[in-house]
Amino acid sequence: SASEKGGWSSFMAKEISEEPDAVANTILGRVQDGLVRLTEFEPLGDDVIANIDRIVVVACGTAAYAGMLGKYAIEAWARVPVDVELAHEFRYRNPILTDRTLVISISQSGETMDTLMAVKFASESGAKVVSVCNTHGATIPRESDAVVYTHAGPEVAVASTKAFVAQVTALYLIGLHIAGVRGTLSDELIRENVAELQAVPAKISEVLVTSQSIKQLAHWMTDTQSVLFLGRHVGYPIALEGALKLKELAYIHAEGFAAGELKHGPIALIEPGQVVFVIVPSPRDPNSLHKKVVSNIQEIRARGARVIAIAEKGDAAVLPFADEVIPIPLAGSFFEPLLAVIPLHIFGMELSAAKGLDVDQPRNLAKSVTVE
Ligand code: G6P
Repeated sequence: SASEKGGWSSFMAKEISEEPDAVANTILGRVQDGLVRLTEFEPLGDDVIANIDRIVVVACGTAAYAGMLGKYAIEAWARVPVDVELAHEFRYRNPILTDRTLVISISQSGETMDTLMAVKFASESGAKVVSVCNTHGATIPRESDAVVYTHAGPEVAVASTKAFVAQVTALYLIGLHIAGVRGTLSDELIRENVAELQAVPAKISEVLVTSQSIKQLAHWMTDTQSVLFLGRHVGYPIALEGALKLKELAYIHAEGFAAGELKHGPIALIEPGQVVFVIVPSPRDPNSLHKKVVSNIQEIRARGARVIAIAEKGDAAVLPFADEVIPIPLAGSFFEPLLAVIPLHIFGMELSAAKGLDVDQPRNLAKSVTVE
């Protein structure tokens, strides 16, 4: 009903407005003296965390893209190899699991059957399972050795938004927790990353202010047949998430690519008028990926693509080559995706609304898929 939506036009609009709180509430109570303290890990014991030699993330849909971001951060901070597996692919290929494997499941509902079956399989194979879940007392948490709850609040719209940023937040906390236990990051560096994470909610609020211009963009694109998304490093999962949102919400063929892969195939798709969203790394990025992505933009622009760049505020290098620039606040490289994803959530919602579709309940989809 309208009252449940709190005056918003859809649950999704309300839930996007709650993205800052979803991050802030997921951090709440988990930081002490600037360091991460996850009491949820206590039943596992620090010796288990010290001994793991591999992490496997299992999830479906948007949660799997959160998992990809978790991979980049956990590997960088905790120096443990991380694989991300779609839950429904995982157990059907006799995966290698030992008592030194930590499986992390991610599920907003905690009821996704594919993910549940992967969790059960992992437990039976002797792996430890930690679940990231948004729903208290759901089935997946009950089947796990430990649970790190995301505190996004109930999510009603089928397409996940605030749960996604909360999942990424939880994974970053897990990464910093493990890094602390294993001593792979100094306390000083952990504190720096914690402070960056704590600064994210206010920065998301800044991004939400640009929603009017994104709505405008969506209104111009109601006849668009296909949209591509490019990103690199932590921008890559965001490209995939942006594409998934357009499929789910606007029924548009959309695909996300790793920007470096462009020259290995996808560039053949570029013809005049093709809309391409590009998630641009910060010009301050220590891996200097910024230059490489800007040169990707030049390549597709030269072939007539219409480029919409999501770039750091003040990034002058993209201006000459982009048709539109959506600015995001400055943040450390691992934290940019939590900002860059917001315009894509808004864009999916606005394009769906502009096409007169059901924003909260897209055709053929269910909020939680409880069959395999
Ligand atoms: C369904 C939804 C997706 C969601 C996926 C995983 O397919 O339509 O939006 O990302 O399930 O859901 P979960 O509850 O496990 O996070």
